Amino acid sequence: MIISVRSLSYDELKRNLSQDDKIVIWSCDTCVKHCGIAGMEKMTALEELLKEDGYNVIRKELISESCQINLAKKHKTAQEDIFREATAIIVLTCEIGYQCVKTVFPYKKVIGTAKTFGAGNFSNRKGPILTSPFESTCLEPNTEGYTLTNLVENFNMFPKFFDADKEPNPEKITITVDGKPLEVKKDSTLLDELLANRIRIPHLCYDSSLGSIGACRMCLVKVEGKRGLIPSCCTQVEEGMNVTTEDEEITSLRKSVLQMIIAECEDDIQRSRDIRYWMRRYKIKENRFQLPKKNETVDDSSDVLIRDPNRCILCGRCIRACANLSGQKVINFANRGSNMVTITGLNEPFANTDCAHCLACVHYCPTNAITPKSISKKISGYPFWTLISYPKKMASTS
Ligand code: SF4
Ligand code: SF4
Ligand code: FES
Repeated sequence: MIISVRSLSYDELKRNLSQDDKIVIWSCDTCVKHCGIAGMEKMTALEELLKEDGYNVIRKELISESCQINLAKKHKTAQEDIFREATAIIVLTCEIGYQCVKTVFPYKKVIGTAKTFGAGNFSNRKGPILTSPFESTCLEPNTEGYTLTNLVENFNMFPKFFDADKEPNPEKITITVDGKPLEVKKDSTLLDELLANRIRIPHLCYDSSLGSIGACRMCLVKVEGKRGLIPSCCTQVEEGMNVTTEDEEITSLRKSVLQMIIAECEDDIQRSRDIRYWMRRYKIKENRFQLPKKNETVDDSSDVLIRDPNRCILCGRCIRACANLSGQKVINFANRGSNMVTITGLNEPFANTDCAHCLACVHYCPTNAITPKSISKKISGYPFWTLISYPKKMASTS
């Protein structure tokens, strides 16, 4: 099956429509339905959302295999009157289906809603998984598969269907990002809003569910009127803010941070999907700085986890995950400045700590510094995030 994820927010969808439009919702009933973003139920949900907001939906059309252009053409002929009247067609299909509909209706406003990543299959445990990504995704083929959650998180797509976006009227303000106006939620974090609007910013230490500590310096941006570069993960949006997310100075700083990480840590760190992505994006091919490699002891004392401090970039995500999600304080920072390290317990082996084996730290570590010994053998009886398919697993299997 083809694996697709929703690529448009409900607000973006509405920006493409006018209240005068006569809207047809066109949905495929095959692969995209299994990806949770199409099918009759989803069309009805979208119709209700749009009608509540004053839009005129004149028809819903469910077509199996919308990626077959001949079927799309036949359907156009069969429903000629409807399509003559329609001024906008919202397409709940994969990108291939969208291209077919666009070809069949060259003079209509056709709005695609999905990003298609490649081919995959349906796993009983994980749901739809991507195993053979398109080359354009820069992902490697992976028999374990990338879950929809992985794709949403790593490509700044949108989870679930449009009804998931409906919040009770969040107050909006307008900022300018790279010269373009952007409506964002008041009182939110700049990095969250940039990512929500699919502006890709590297962020190794930040996660919206863990909060910010501004440690990695990868998310630095420029804000007019503020001195120097500022971490977008620690900055609140303000009305009229003028933000630059990428220029020579920003790129050069991010490249230096990446080079330092690569120089200091094990070569293995390049197996981190995020780091590999940014190395490719910034065309970093080799280690420029000759720094002594870390030579810390790998802790495999735990029955469940292995901790390799040589891969640690001191982002602190595991510390916050352990404290905030597990309610434990098993992992901590010790020392200061260039001597800073992460330790478990009172600098003792993992096995001697109160670790609850929840694997929250594994899930949030961006570099595979903490990995499960064997998820499949240890999984039963552990909390919910044990069942999550971790982004770093994507990297470690490549
Ligand atoms: S497995 Fe859970 S309890 Fe153990 S160190 Fe990681 S986050 Fe803390
Ligand atoms: S172990 Fe992983 S999550 Fe924890 S500080 Fe190091 S790199 Fe970050
Ligand atoms: S993500 Fe902002 S400093 Fe790390």
